[in-house]
Amino acid sequence: MATSAGMLDGRVAIISGGLGDIGRAIARALAQAGARVALGDVRPSADASDLLAELRTLGRGTRYDRVDVADADAVEAWIGAVAGDLGVPDLIIPNAAIVALADARTITAASWSEQLRIDLDGCFHLAQGCAKRLLAAKTSGRIVFIGSWAADRPHRHIPAYCVAKAGVRMLMKCLALELADADILVNEVAPGYVDAGLSGRIFAAEPAKRAVAEAVVPVRRLITADEVAHHVLALCDPCDRHRTGTVTLVDGGLSLLTPGN
Ligand SMILES: NC(=O)c1ccc[n+]([C@@H]2O[C@H](COP(=O)([O-])OP(=O)(O)OC[C@H]3O[C@@H](n4cnc5c(N)ncnc54)[C@H](O)[C@@H]3O)[C@@H](O)[C@H]2O)c1
Repeated sequence: MATSAGMLDGRVAIISGGLGDIGRAIARALAQAGARVALGDVRPSADASDLLAELRTLGRGTRYDRVDVADADAVEAWIGAVAGDLGVPDLIIPNAAIVALADARTITAASWSEQLRIDLDGCFHLAQGCAKRLLAAKTSGRIVFIGSWAADRPHRHIPAYCVAKAGVRMLMKCLALELADADILVNEVAPGYVDAGLSGRIFAAEPAKRAVAEAVVPVRRLITADEVAHHVLALCDPCDRHRTGTVTLVDGGLSLLTPGN
């Protein structure tokens, strides 16, 4: 597995949702491997200061931009600012997402649309904008989408999230096919139950749900944000030149379960 310091020297990573739990872990992992790291999120700049300071101690360039990934023009401006400051991003990590609990019978049109615009369209805006620049510069690159095991496993109460993640998976495959001959490799890391971020907050508020989740997962443990980042780093390993269009499923065996078995 890829872990070596210096493996990503000279590379420029761009991470949406970079101030979330998984985004932060990915930022640390890629910076420790030598990449300059650009973070984008909707949160105020003050929320980025601790992470930026930490990344700077590694001696790498870094920056934070407040950006809404649902806004195509804002994402385009963000990519341009990063390219001018740190260089054209060649490690692209569409990671920002939200989830709202509402079943398919009661979800509002506004909530449905908001989740699709952030969780799916936002990934497209970042991936397309960066791919165009890489193609123009005739530079190779990697795109690693943060998907979910929910992409092909329906869940009650989060239909829009499931549909968005299914869309991200097909987007990943379409881009992998289209960009392969430009040496831009495109893959997805699909976590199961993470003890951080979106589900970590639910587990923290309702510890009983955490215990149930741990008991259900066949490996009997939840994945950490650092473990998700570890798989993202592996997909950025420059020595890995053939893997594209794949899903790295890290769900501890959740997808293997069938009712009553
Ligand atoms: N936590 C889990 O259990 C889990 C499981 C599977 C997949 N994932 C995926 O991991 C990724 C990261 O999620 P997380 O768990 O770290 O959650 P998180 O809430 O900690 O991080 C998500 C970040 O995205 C940002 N964001 C939200 N809307 C945005 C927008 N419009 N523009 C820019 N940024 C925006 C948030 O401010 C937040 O910092 C997501 O794609 C999520 O679907 C998480």
